[in-house]
Amino acid sequence: MRQAGATVESLRRRERGDGTRPPHPLLPLTVRGLGFWAGERWILKDVSFHLPDATRTVILGPNGAGKSVLLRLCHGLLRPGTGTISWGGLTPQNAASGQALVAQRPVLLRRSVKGNILHALKVRHLPRAQRAERVRATLALAGLEHLKDRPARTLSGGEQQRVTLARAWALRPNVLMLDEPTSSLDPGATRGVEELIRAVDAAGTKIIMTTHDISQGRRLANDVLFLHQGRLIEHAPAGEFFAAPSAPAAAQFIRGELPF
Ligand SMILES: Nc1ncnc2c1ncn2[C@@H]1O[C@H](COP(=O)(O)OP(=O)(O)OP(=O)(O)O)[C@@H](O)[C@H]1O
Ligand SMILES: [Mg+2]
Repeated sequence: MRQAGATVESLRRRERGDGTRPPHPLLPLTVRGLGFWAGERWILKDVSFHLPDATRTVILGPNGAGKSVLLRLCHGLLRPGTGTISWGGLTPQNAASGQALVAQRPVLLRRSVKGNILHALKVRHLPRAQRAERVRATLALAGLEHLKDRPARTLSGGEQQRVTLARAWALRPNVLMLDEPTSSLDPGATRGVEELIRAVDAAGTKIIMTTHDISQGRRLANDVLFLHQGRLIEHAPAGEFFAAPSAPAAAQFIRGELPF
């Protein structure tokens, strides 16, 4: 799949006519004073951060920290109780068409792998003439050509997760948000999904993903947002965060000693 990533990168370059990354239309993402209240308590409180670059941002934190809620707010599926979210000056609702969110428990349609991807393209009104080539290129990127005619729901969990990612990537979003993309997968399938995430990143897409898996954070993150009990405890480059986290709760989490 590394090879497939290079293919997409070169395709993108051809589209742009040069080798540079163009300015990213939806960045910076600026979140200020974000709060979300539900069930008579604050699920998120006073969360502020700034993401200027199209790198891989990992939202790390234990179960119940508020990671999924934060992604859903950023994608415009939930409304903030307090604070603001700006995607390069756009509201989440106005920016949503340039983004894709893969939910924590995504559902594939009762169709073939190819049929699932094609359906996503139709729903988002990609012109008919472009659909077949887009499906082909997407299957190639995800290493799924040999499975294209299989009913998607008969695939293994790892394969299904790659199809889900491929289906989201088929829309060529500027930002891809992934909520715990490998939480139910074994180490081999996890690596397969991580390779695909790297390939999508190599094509210039901003990745924002959640995980509670520290090793996955180490493997994938350029920067880490560490959430705990609805608060953003630390935002740091991954190297710094994992080598010497400044917040005690982050250090405890990395050592596997964070009490709930
Ligand atoms: N709509 C809602 N109403 C009430 N409580 C909610 C709502 N959505 C989330 N919560 C609560 O907010 C907290 C954070 O939930 P969230 O799903 O964001 O956690 P998470 O960090 O994604 O956890 P996990 O790692 O288990 O996926 C949880 O305690 C959850 O029960
Ligand atoms: Mg979650």
